[in-house]
Amino acid sequence: MTRPLPAVIAAAQNAAHRMADRHTPFVMNDWYVAAFADDIKEQLLARTLLGRRLVFYRTRAGQVVALEDRCPHRSMPLSAGTLTQDTIVCGYHGLRFNAEGDCIEVPSQANCPKNVGIRSYRTHERGAVVWIWMGEAELADLSKLPPQDWMESAEWERSQGYLSLQGSYVRLHENLLDLTHLSFLHAKSFGTPDYAKAAFESVIGDGQFALLRNVVPTTLPPVWAIPTGLTGQGQAARIVRSEFRSLGLHEVSVTFYDCHLPENDRPQFRIRTAHMPTPETATSTHYFIVHGRDFALDDPETTRFMHAQLFVAFQEDVDGLALQEQALASTPAEDLYEFSVAADAPAVAMRRYVLARQRQEAPD
Ligand code: FES
Ligand SMILES: [Fe+2]
Repeated sequence: MTRPLPAVIAAAQNAAHRMADRHTPFVMNDWYVAAFADDIKEQLLARTLLGRRLVFYRTRAGQVVALEDRCPHRSMPLSAGTLTQDTIVCGYHGLRFNAEGDCIEVPSQANCPKNVGIRSYRTHERGAVVWIWMGEAELADLSKLPPQDWMESAEWERSQGYLSLQGSYVRLHENLLDLTHLSFLHAKSFGTPDYAKAAFESVIGDGQFALLRNVVPTTLPPVWAIPTGLTGQGQAARIVRSEFRSLGLHEVSVTFYDCHLPENDRPQFRIRTAHMPTPETATSTHYFIVHGRDFALDDPETTRFMHAQLFVAFQEDVDGLALQEQALASTPAEDLYEFSVAADAPAVAMRRYVLARQRQEAPD
């Protein structure tokens, strides 16, 4: 076996230090998905996001509340308490907190100590998901949330799902910007052998990274061949744009059409997938997915079929990334190196950007 020269390893390790990885502290000043909207009900929901324990609930008026999940009296998780009239009563000694996180009752005495409470976080419910801002409250700005009109439009049919990834969110964003893995990791689901070799174009901007790939002609896998009717060998065009839009949102847009029909006389079938990774810990990630299509609307059987097929593929990513994390964790730091290839350029640029964002927030 060829063992790289120490100088090659040192160069690779040097390059890795300029990119975000699982050791990079979280970027706090951004919007991340906290939950699907219908996961937050009039009951307490505990969830760890960006390394912090939070408790969520919905008020009787329908407002989402996100609070620190730790009683400031003796640190009992408030999620182990009870929700009563839009307030949480701690399950240990009964201190009560309102939706703003203020302590409003101490059962064992007449008054609450002044200025005692827990942190509350700003949330924003939009379409199927609830976004959260966990950084500096005064920087929370809805204009920093990328638009996703299709996620609310009646012209798109949608389904959603959640996967728990035992791996870093940075690696998930990288996976989504690297579509050469489709021919291999997804060989049995939605990858085709021609995918890895198809020409691609990279778009590397300030905070925006995309990979464009036109696979023409190609044969579609069943997940799309069946709903579009493009079932012939070499019949289809598969035009893909995979884009990192923010730390909490990666979007894949694909157009399919019959590449043997004239340009102005061929139906186009579009799908979109919002991949929304939210770090749970350094090596685990909440992976929220919303998938949409602009054809076969009001066809629940097609929705069920595509959802089931797609989630087989997304599970392959989750399983692969968990294995990758295990391999990383069990390699001594001095032996750890990874080299990049040309197709990694957008992912490398994205990881450098994530590191720069973190350093900007918390300079050494
Ligand atoms: S720990 Fe919550 S009331 Fe004492
Ligand atoms: Fe994948």
